[in-house]
Amino acid sequence: MLKPKVEMSIFQTILARRSVRKFKAREVTSDTVRTLLEAAVCAPSAIHQEPWGFVVIQDKNLLRQLSDLAKPLFLDDIQQRAPHAGHKMEFFSQPDFNIFYNSGTLILICGASAAPFVEADCWLAAENFMLSACALGLGTCVIGSALPALNLTSVKHQLGVPDDFTVVAPIILGYPDDAIAPVLRKKPYILANISAAANV
Ligand SMILES: Cc1cc2nc3c(=O)[nH]c(=O)nc-3n(C[C@H](O)[C@H](O)[C@H](O)COP(=O)(O)O)c2cc1C
Repeated sequence: MLKPKVEMSIFQTILARRSVRKFKAREVTSDTVRTLLEAAVCAPSAIHQEPWGFVVIQDKNLLRQLSDLAKPLFLDDIQQRAPHAGHKMEFFSQPDFNIFYNSGTLILICGASAAPFVEADCWLAAENFMLSACALGLGTCVIGSALPALNLTSVKHQLGVPDDFTVVAPIILGYPDDAIAPVLRKKPYILANISAAANV
């Protein structure tokens, strides 16, 4: 396993992780991808089914083609599901906009569709992957907007995703090109605080 240059505690890593959308040209080696996938499969999974499978794409031309296919499909999809999403969607109409931000590596975390908690399992693997990447000095970003295209039967066949698998978490990966300002968070919204002591 690769060791991070600077050891970070899990809390430091959680606080340091940002969605990265600008990458250096430096390539990500297959050893590094392997290390991150080994971290991904350490995630918990319902009934210990480990229902995931992975596709590693390191082909910028293919990513550009997938981006061009994905943009109109995502716009249609979001208009149906969130018609008030508004101005943030303008990017998706721009011919030059690459939904993968010109990253050289895209990882697809796919799940066996029949597994009872397939989405949860894959997203837990995704978080392991992203935190481990951060600890090793790499950047990631989930690209949910690619999902309508990636789950087309023709695209799944092209990418080697079996029919009984669903693409759940597309994640770009690379070396961050600049520091990224933290995105502010809401405070934890505690709906209730129930303890036996208060009821005595
Ligand atoms: C399910 C999911 C889908 C996302 N899809 C996209 C996307 O298509 N494009 C993008 O630039 N960021 C995408 N993101 C990243 C979010 O915008 C980002 O996580 C959020 O703004 C918080 O910023 P942070 O990750 O830097 O803390 C997605 C995140 C999640 C969890």
